[in-house]
Amino acid sequence: MTTTHSKRSRIFVNSLVLYVVAFLFLKFAFPPIAKAIAGTSVNLPIPGTLFLWYMILITACFFVYLSSNEKDLADFLAPVVEAIRGKGGIHGVIFKIAFVCLPLLVGYEIYDCFVPKVVVPSSTRQQHPGMSNPNAVPYVGLKNPFRDPTPEMLAAFVEKYNEEDPREGEMDIDAMPPRLDTDSLDPSALKELFVNETIVEGRQLYQKNCRACHGTGHDGAGPVAKTFKLRPVAFTDPGTIATLVEEAVFWRVSEGGIGLPDIATPWDSPMPKWKDELTEEDRWKIIMAIYSDIGMEPRVLEMKVN
Ligand code: HEC
Repeated sequence: MTTTHSKRSRIFVNSLVLYVVAFLFLKFAFPPIAKAIAGTSVNLPIPGTLFLWYMILITACFFVYLSSNEKDLADFLAPVVEAIRGKGGIHGVIFKIAFVCLPLLVGYEIYDCFVPKVVVPSSTRQQHPGMSNPNAVPYVGLKNPFRDPTPEMLAAFVEKYNEEDPREGEMDIDAMPPRLDTDSLDPSALKELFVNETIVEGRQLYQKNCRACHGTGHDGAGPVAKTFKLRPVAFTDPGTIATLVEEAVFWRVSEGGIGLPDIATPWDSPMPKWKDELTEEDRWKIIMAIYSDIGMEPRVLEMKVN
């Protein structure tokens, strides 16, 4: 009798422990492991809905396993049945407490899901906080190096351009532009080619890193845009980056939504901080590509105020 009872409790307790371990693993151990695999600078937690699905799947797995054998299922359910019947000693007491607490917990969770949490701010959000913000200071006065390339940058470009012959491989050679004849190319044509290549690279980087939020067509309607309370900016709107000097855009891309002054953050901005993910060059290239693709120019200060 005692052996049966201890075996019964073992199945129940083992299942419970395994379940808690699975939960703790997904919640606390997975984010640093994902961080190490992806090589990012921050932990990567599992999104809430996905987490819920994993737990549902784990629960289903438990019951598939337990119900594959009638005896195991009976053993697993035995402590619950005993508790319902008012037996089971200390287990019985624990179960009774659980029976009261569980519905209360579920009730609270449902209440918590539906109760409105966001208080609409009384003042409008300032989309373009000034660069007097402390985390903007290191960016004041920076210039996009790709707009005015130095002779060294152009020389390096020519070398790389001729090295990476895009006509090799499976591409249609006739459809490709002729190779670069650096001797016959005048400086302005070379600069134009350099700028165009930079834009092509920037465009690819944009589609890879920014499209999900800001949209393929820069209209702020990327596939995940609607999941945020504070929507990603539509660059095609002339009231956004067209009103900013380029260094301000570089600051916003580098530092993201973190650390913005209160006036700019009644809702937290999900705009990521890109300075740890993308090199300075890549950030400038993306900015150049965005302006080119929306057909606008960065704002130029009309006069320098002392
Ligand atoms: C996770 C979604 C998301 C991604 C990915 C994202 N952004 Fe944003 N971005 C936002 C949101 C939301 C805002 C508006 C809130 C704010 O200004 O912080 C924003 C604002 C901006 C602004 C400020 C515009 C202005 O008018 O003040 C710039 C510039 C910007 N993003 C550029 C980029 C670039 C470049 C990338 C890719 C390297 C990128 N964003 C990737 C969500 C995102």
